[in-house]
Amino acid sequence: MKTILKIFLLICVFCSCQHASAQKFEGLALTPPMGWNSWNKFAQNVDEKMIREIADAMISTGMKEAGYEYIVIDDYWHGERDSLGFIQANKDRFPSGIKALADYIHQKGLKFGIYSCAGHETCGHQPGSRGYEYQDAYMYAKWGVDYLKYDWCSTKNLNSIGAYTTMSSAIKKAGRPMVFSLCEWGSTHPWEWAQNVGHLWRTTGDIYNCFDCIDDHGNWKAFGVLQITEMNQKLRKYAGPGCWNDPDMLEVGNGMALNEARAHFSLWCMMAAPLISGNDLRNMDKETISVLTNKAIISVDQDSLGIQGFRYETKDSVEMWLKPLKNGEWAITYFNRSHQSVKVVIDWRSMNIKDPDFGYTLNLTGRSKFLVQDLWLNKEIGNTIGKHSVSIAARDVFCLKLYLK
Ligand code: GLA
Repeated sequence: MKTILKIFLLICVFCSCQHASAQKFEGLALTPPMGWNSWNKFAQNVDEKMIREIADAMISTGMKEAGYEYIVIDDYWHGERDSLGFIQANKDRFPSGIKALADYIHQKGLKFGIYSCAGHETCGHQPGSRGYEYQDAYMYAKWGVDYLKYDWCSTKNLNSIGAYTTMSSAIKKAGRPMVFSLCEWGSTHPWEWAQNVGHLWRTTGDIYNCFDCIDDHGNWKAFGVLQITEMNQKLRKYAGPGCWNDPDMLEVGNGMALNEARAHFSLWCMMAAPLISGNDLRNMDKETISVLTNKAIISVDQDSLGIQGFRYETKDSVEMWLKPLKNGEWAITYFNRSHQSVKVVIDWRSMNIKDPDFGYTLNLTGRSKFLVQDLWLNKEIGNTIGKHSVSIAARDVFCLKLYLK
């Protein structure tokens, strides 16, 4: 009997440890993370000089002031593992080492992120973390890493829940709080199991620098803004503070026309997406800066209620999106998908809308009245009595905030 009791107690201790160690660092990413990542623009061409210059530009362009915080080096920073198995940076491109780079970024009041992969190899055939999870997390913590993006290449026969939970536990064990970004492209529905494992999860394959297209490589596809939006919008009920659907990094500033860049950025903000810029911050034109640093629309993304917005209806190619905000306020975006400008008449008094997943209501048929702010012009344009007519250019947006004084 005693032996059975002992075994039972041992099992209990084992299970509770397993449970405790699978918990991510709480209190991080309570609003969608904001930052910059090297992949979209630089791919394999990363080095310490460029990353330092990006950190400088993050400040000089006003990006930091607008809320961007993390500088994340994606794939290709790696060198060999040393004789004890510790991962090292590529010595030619990062001669001062990762710790010195992290220190530089921290001195600027920014945070530092890095990339690895659950398989033996990253997607760029660099050393992955499989079998080295605890050793790598220890090293990242030692270097001062604040954010880990963790990819899903070369993972044949690997169970995603197990692989991501192992790395999450390794980070916890290493003891330095890090935002944990799962990048398994939505293939095993992380929104259903990763709430305690990570802080954001990719919902789709890679973004492609195009507004409306699919880049088909045979065994994998990359997707334009519209295709990604379509996939990501269905998952809103899984998002919330500390748990974000990630429709991938921004392509703003990589050549998209201004109207499309504005629509892309607005849709990401309406979907409470992580805002990770993916362009060359050292060479931005005024228009790109004006999109990426528009504080009014960023405040919609960063609203502390943390609700992902929803598409309510589509009329004459114009989609109407809503996002409940804190204090009973609302963001509304009219998005014209078509190639022609469309006139929209907003009849405020006919609006009685219920959030299908979270139960918030916007009922303007009675006495309640909001003030209306045009978010891109950052200007009050009236209130919710009567009607408002507007012409929305092709593939552009009209973004509003309904607020109370
Ligand atoms: C995958 C990821 C991308 C990027 C590359 C790097 O494709 O989804 O975001 O990290 O790997 O090789």
